Order: sequence, then C-alpha cells, then structure tokens
Amino acid sequence: MNSSGTAEPLILDAMQLASEPDLEARFTESAHRILADLVRGGAALGWVEPPSLREVAALFSHVVSAVQAGDGSLRVAYLGRRLVGLGYWLRYTRPTHRPHADLEKVAVDAAAHGCGVGRALASALIADARLSGIEVLTLDARGDNSNALHLYRSLGFTEYGRLPDFVASGGRRYDKVLYMLDLRRQA
Ligand SMILES: CC(C)(COP(=O)(O)OP(=O)(O)OC[C@H]1O[C@@H](n2cnc3c(N)ncnc32)[C@H](O)[C@@H]1OP(=O)(O)O)[C@@H](O)C(=O)NCCC(=O)NCCS
Repeated sequence: MNSSGTAEPLILDAMQLASEPDLEARFTESAHRILADLVRGGAALGWVEPPSLREVAALFSHVVSAVQAGDGSLRVAYLGRRLVGLGYWLRYTRPTHRPHADLEKVAVDAAAHGCGVGRALASALIADARLSGIEVLTLDARGDNSNALHLYRSLGFTEYGRLPDFVASGGRRYDKVLYMLDLRRQA
C-alpha cells in the first residue's frame, strides 16, 4: 500500500513477464482490452478507431523482438494478477539517431488512473533507458493531454517543439507536443 491507501502496482519488464507463463499467455488480450477501451474513450494514443486484437498482437511482437535485440524496453503493470498498464520505448532505427530512443506509449486502464501506475511505468522506462545507455529519450503527446504532459514534465522532460494543429482526429485538430529528456545531462 502507498500513503494514499491504494495498492502499489507490480512493475515487470519483458523478461519477468516471460517468466510468468499465465500472465504472458493473457498479455496480448489484456493489452488489447486496455488500449481499445482507452481509444474508445477518446485517449490520445495514435489511433482514431480502437485497434484490433491482431494489430495489438503485431505491435507487441515487434516490441518484444526489439527488446530481445537490445533496442527497446517494455514495462507492464499489475495490480494483483490484473494487467493495468503498459509502456515501451524503442531505439530509433535511423543510423544517425541510434543513440536515442522514443517513448512511444504509456497507457493505463482508465479504472486505475490517478493511482500512480503511469508514474511507476514511466519511471521504470526512464531507468531502463539510462541503463541501456540511451542518450536522449523523446516522446510526443497531444497538446490537450494535460495529465500525460504534467506527468512527463514532473519526470524531467522538457518541450523542444510543437506542431500546431497537427494531430487529426476526425474533424478536430490538436497540437503535437514534442518532449525530450537528455540523459547525458543527468546524474
Ligand atoms: C497519462 C496516463 C498514462 C497517466 O497514468 P496514471 O496512472 O493515471 O498517472 P499517475 O496516477 O501515475 O499520475 C501521474 C500524474 O498524472 C495526473 N493524473 C493522472 N490521473 C489523473 C486524474 N484522474 N485526474 C487528474 N490528474 C491525473 C496527475 O497530474 C499525476 O501527477 P501527480 O502525481 O503530481 O498528482 C494515463 O492517464 C493514461 O493512460 N492516459 C491515456 C493514454 C495516454 O494518454 N497516454 C499517454 C500518451 S503520450
């Protein structure tokens, strides 16, 4: 339990997840449930329509391959045996950008928002980036995603750019906000 009386999430990396066969077997289905429900509720995760199970399976197969190649980190959060959040970063593929990585997704089940899961996931992913020798961790977020932007700023990210009215969701347009965390400048 934390100071506010809610249970602490258990944060696992990809190897720890693989060592829990029952959790691993249900992972794709649970991740799909979280991502599809969030997108259905209007979350800014890059999809306009909820992703299909097949799309989510292909995404995480790609992420796990990158982790195995040393080019990424995947973190998952459990409350009890229930998957409540996930996040990952991937190293840039462009040869001149190889020292750097992009934090592509952090997503928490709406029922668990505000309980510290997102902060625990993002902190673990930053620690992994540091351990992997990543120099700059970037991310982008939709300009109206104030909870996410607040979280990232509180972890040391700073804004390095903004594309006005760039994110298209139906007829609406939102700023794309570009954040970076320069791990070379941090102890
Ligand atoms: C952004 C997101 C990952 C945060 O996860 P979370 O588990 O709810 O966040 P935490 O409980 O760790 O709180 C982190 C910060 O988010 C904010 N926050 C989270 N939930 C909130 C809520 N329900 N009301 C108000 N603020 C909230 C708070 O500012 C909090 O900062 P604090 O610790 O200084 O109070 C989560 O809201 C989410 O999955 N959103 C949809 C997907 C998304 O937008 N992902 C980010 C894409 S860039």
